[in-house]
This record gives sequence, C-alpha cells and structure tokens, in this order.
Amino acid sequence: MTAHLAPLPAETTRTALAPIVLEVENLGLGFRNADGLLPIITDVSFTIRQGEAVALVGESGCGKSITASAVMGLVPDHAEITGLIRLNGKEVSGLPPRERRKLCGRHMGFIFQEPMTALHPTLTIGRQMTDTLRHNLGLGRAAAMDRAAELLDRVGIPRARDILKGYVHELSGGMRQRVMIALAISCGPSLIIADEPTTALDVTIQAQVLDLLDEMRSELDLAMLFITHDLEVVGDFCDRAVVMYAGDVVERGASADVVHHPAHPYARGLLDAVPSHDDGRRRLSPIGGTVPPVGQWPDGCRFAPRCARADEQCLTRPALASHERSDVRCWHPLEGAA
Ligand SMILES: Nc1ncnc2c1ncn2[C@@H]1O[C@H](COP(=O)(O)OP(=O)(O)O)[C@@H](O)[C@H]1O
Ligand SMILES: [Mg+2]
Repeated sequence: MTAHLAPLPAETTRTALAPIVLEVENLGLGFRNADGLLPIITDVSFTIRQGEAVALVGESGCGKSITASAVMGLVPDHAEITGLIRLNGKEVSGLPPRERRKLCGRHMGFIFQEPMTALHPTLTIGRQMTDTLRHNLGLGRAAAMDRAAELLDRVGIPRARDILKGYVHELSGGMRQRVMIALAISCGPSLIIADEPTTALDVTIQAQVLDLLDEMRSELDLAMLFITHDLEVVGDFCDRAVVMYAGDVVERGASADVVHHPAHPYARGLLDAVPSHDDGRRRLSPIGGTVPPVGQWPDGCRFAPRCARADEQCLTRPALASHERSDVRCWHPLEGAA
C-alpha cells in the first residue's frame, strides 16, 4: 500500500520543524495616565520559528512598533504589559529590567527605519561595534575590532577597516543600514527585529538591503520580525504575515495567502492600495477614512467605521478565528477571496 503523506499546511512550509524562537501570546500594552489605562495594543499573538520571517503589517499608528518595543523590553515606565513573551522557550516579560536587557542584547538584534537615531553620531563606527561585541561577548579590544571588520565585510561594506575609523554621518543611507545589520547580527542573535528597515531608502537601495537581510536570515538561520506597511514586500520576503489594525491582530496566516487571498476587509483594502506593476493604469483605491487614534476605538470591530461589509453584528467585537486559509478577526470575512 502506498503511504500518502498529508501536505503540510501552507503556513509551515519553509520551517515546519524548526524550533520556535519567539512566542507572543495575548500581548496587551497600555499607558497609565490620569484617566486610567489607555490601551495601545490588545490580544496580540504570533510565533516565529528559526529561519522564518514574519511580517507585521498595517498602516501607520496601528501598533506595530510598540509591539516590537514590548518584545525588546524597551517600553516607557508608565506602560503596563499583559500576556506572555517567550524567547527560545524562556518567559522574558516578567524578568527584571537588567536581566531582560542582558538577554535581549545577546539574543536579539534590532534594525530601525532611521539608523541615524540608533547609531551614535560622535562615536566612531568601530567604537560602537566593538563596545557591543566586548560587552555582550566578552571579546578583547583587538579581537572585537577584527570581528567588527569581518562583519562589515560580510554585509558588503568595502574598505571595512577605514569605515570603522569613520562616523555614521559620512555614510550613505544604504551603507548606514548595512552597518545596522552588521551590528544586529554581531552577537549571534536568534531573533532580528527590523522595523521598516527600508522605508527611508531609495527603491534600488531598498532592494539591496532586503536581499542582504534575506541572505542573513537564511545563512544564519535567524528568526525575523519584519515590520512594514508595504504588502508587496511581505509577499516577496516573508513566510507569514500578521496584519494589525488599531492595536489588534485582524488577520494572520501564510504571507502568500494573506497577500493574494486576504480574508479581512482591511487586508483586502491594504492590497487594493498597492500600486500594480502589471498594469500601470490600474487605479489605486485607498481605504477611505483613517485609523482611529488610541482612546477612540469603537467598541465592536475597530475597522467597522471604514468597512463596506459592516452591519449590526460588527457592533460586537469579533474574535480571531480560523477561516479558510488564515485566522481572521471579522464577522464577515471574504469568501474564497482572490
Ligand atoms: N510613548 C507613547 N505614549 C503614548 N502613545 C504612544 C506612545 N508610543 C506610541 N503611542 C501611540 O500608540 C499607537 C501605536 O503606535 P506605533 O506602535 O508607533 O504604530 P506603528 O508602528 O504601527 O505606526 C499610536 O497611536 C501612537 O500614537
Ligand atoms: Mg512604526
């Protein structure tokens, strides 16, 4: 008798058996102010396996960066966090700040949209890289400098030894982002968090930086949380996608499914707002209205005021539930969407 193997679910193709590096479970974050607790994100859950890139997608103000900050343990004192964050199986959200920083410095690398804010303007690039390497890996000065040069070389920066003696303002935007990538991978992390890493770059440089990130992910078997508002990049670059709207996860699934067959009307709307390369004449249809600011979310479905499918049921908050290909937080998801 021939054994028939069940096909793998689409969401686990590349890294089905790889260990889970990051688990975010029912994460909530609010800011305490005079009026009480102002929720910023609610009930955010996703996982990232070794070697896998997971996109966090949504318009500006949806809570993507604050989700990343919570994972990194870099939130202001007046923030209140609920839920769980596990890194390589270890619960980190309850750790004392010092221990948390130590763990994160060693096991997580960060890449931000604007390297000028993340890199020090008056310290040489060599000093910044060697400080990180010495602090986290306990390397001596010379060994750290050798390793820094190797890393710059690895991320495609020519004349690494000269660059190490220079300052960040002397570099182009693309080269700065390469330095950020070198720093992010310098201590052998298991997770990289990249928050809109190419948004500030020219289109051709964007492609080069994305290629480099993809190469690093695959070569170093890194888990990657990739934050973007660009659905096209998600389809090309990420295994899975988590779509956020007004502090909520509204759709979650394999990126090919979410990008080509979105089930949440918001994900569909994001897709319709992407310029098509196949047909330059296609008119863009941006989603009408704007993301409600924190403190002004509707009680039911937060997308309902902008949604053509909304009805009375949407005055009640929907749960994230499995629907056809993905998990969707919607009372009226799109059926067999194409
Ligand atoms: N330190 C803060 N204090 C108060 N509100 C904040 C703070 N940081 C972010 N927010 C609010 O939280 C929401 C989500 O912000 P953010 O995570 O930066 O969104 P995104 O990265 O998706 O653009 C926004 O409405 C923003 O105004
Ligand atoms: Mg952001």
